[in-house]
Amino acid sequence: MYTEKVMDHFQNPRNMGEIENASGVGTVGNPKCGDIMRMYLDIDENQVIRDCKFKTFGCGAAVATSSMATELVKGKTVEEALKVTNKAVMEALDGLPPVKVHCSLLAEEAIHSALWDYAEKNGIKIEGLEKPKTDIHEEEEEEDY
Ligand code: FES
Repeated sequence: MYTEKVMDHFQNPRNMGEIENASGVGTVGNPKCGDIMRMYLDIDENQVIRDCKFKTFGCGAAVATSSMATELVKGKTVEEALKVTNKAVMEALDGLPPVKVHCSLLAEEAIHSALWDYAEKNGIKIEGLEKPKTDIHEEEEEEDY
């Protein structure tokens, strides 16, 4: 039921880990399944994403979509990264089974949340970026564990 690309990114996730002193970090969760995804962005002075890493505590589809999402946003400007929607990630993976589509939403939200963090830290506004709804704050997260 999974495409080869999904299996590949699930078994050999790209860019897994964290970035110290990241320009932006976003953590999001899916309230239904309880899965959590954290995205780290390293952004240079020209607002280009130099590096991107992720940590996902979740299902295989969530791991595969986060892996693909990091590959897609690397080298892009923050505005271009906004276009890496869950649809774009799913297309890059040659599709996901319908019941797993919500997993890919986590990846999109995690990117947005990390971009939001970056924008807030630097006092800038990224055109078209809205405050992520499923953002998890560190304090709440600790309670969850
Ligand atoms: Fe929760 Fe996939 S089942 S993210």
